[in-house]
Amino acid sequence: MKKMRVAVFVSGSGSNLQAIIDASIPSIEIALVFSNNPDAYALKRAENHGIPTLVINHRDFKSREEFETEILKHLEPLGIELIVLAGFMRILSPLLVREYNNRMINLHPALLPSFPGINAARQAIEAGVKFTGCTVHFVDEGVDSGPIILQAVVPVLDEDDEDSLLQKIHEEEHRIYPEAIRLISEGKIRIEGRRVLRKP
Ligand code: GRF
Repeated sequence: MKKMRVAVFVSGSGSNLQAIIDASIPSIEIALVFSNNPDAYALKRAENHGIPTLVINHRDFKSREEFETEILKHLEPLGIELIVLAGFMRILSPLLVREYNNRMINLHPALLPSFPGINAARQAIEAGVKFTGCTVHFVDEGVDSGPIILQAVVPVLDEDDEDSLLQKIHEEEHRIYPEAIRLISEGKIRIEGRRVLRKP
């Protein structure tokens, strides 16, 4: 089987990148790890596994569009078929989102559509919900708003604070993100409106 060529976009620690690497998904090749942050620990993780890295600092550009045009210039020759956002801390403009329509996914630390945006675990605790979790979704032009691929549920216990809750959410993220990538790269899902369905 031809392997799907994947670029993982990171800005920070990259524990999800590590989970994707460790999952050794036979149907993908991680052809690039891209970071806007030159100090992201995720870059070290990629280097440790011999994965090519690219750093383009958004601060060197006047607009999102110029930043993204530069990114696209590097993705095209590499034949990137799927962009995986894994702790990538920049909001993307329609330029990149449209180019990778239905070919870009994100991971969010809440059960969307609840608690989009930043500090999702803190939002969940403050709202008093008894369950939260994480969501893998396709990226559309909104913030954390595209069609949902997989979700996992995490209970919020009385003794939980933001850190303990995030730790439990991360464990589930590390399980469902590689699983979602596997499903996509094996051609096992289809999108019907807002719904992402399994192919029989
Ligand atoms: C994850 O919690 C993910 O949900 C959010 O950013 C975090 C990235 O963590 N989008 P890491 O860099 O993969 O450790």
